[in-house]
Amino acid sequence: MYIDPREYEYHSEYERMIKAYPPEQRYLLAIMQDIQKEFHYLPRLALKIISQHIGVPFSKVYAIASFYKAFSLVPKGRVVFRVCDGTACHIKNSETLIDQLHKQLGIGPGETSADGEYSLETVNCLGACALAPVMVVNGKVYGKVGPSSIEKIIKEYGGCCHGQAGK
Ligand code: FES
Repeated sequence: MYIDPREYEYHSEYERMIKAYPPEQRYLLAIMQDIQKEFHYLPRLALKIISQHIGVPFSKVYAIASFYKAFSLVPKGRVVFRVCDGTACHIKNSETLIDQLHKQLGIGPGETSADGEYSLETVNCLGACALAPVMVVNGKVYGKVGPSSIEKIIKEYGGCCHGQAGK
């Protein structure tokens, strides 16, 4: 199992968070949620410590982490753009927003820019269909987003317009 050497920098932090829970399998998801929330992904080193702490094989912990869409196994960008592509938003042209972001950020859904600044994701329904099309940026909800608003929103997060953000 390959572990990125940079993850060792946070070894004690992972241990502190993981060992805050009793060593029982039923806390697996709660521990993973905490790590995901703090680091925006699940580092392999953290998964290894979890597996040792609760006594579940690494392969099983890894399989669970890969199964849930809420967890990421790769680091996310500083700014995460989540565009809803559920039915209501799709009807209201969410695809155009995804295209716009793709053009402006230079990344497609599920990707992170090489400089680690931006991630683009699509989600199914954010539960705010009345505001379709909806997009969430680092937890902030934007409703009734028109293609013309995209540049403005990217700029709010330090990106630029036309071509790749930040350039
Ligand atoms: S379909 Fe987009 S918020 Fe429900």
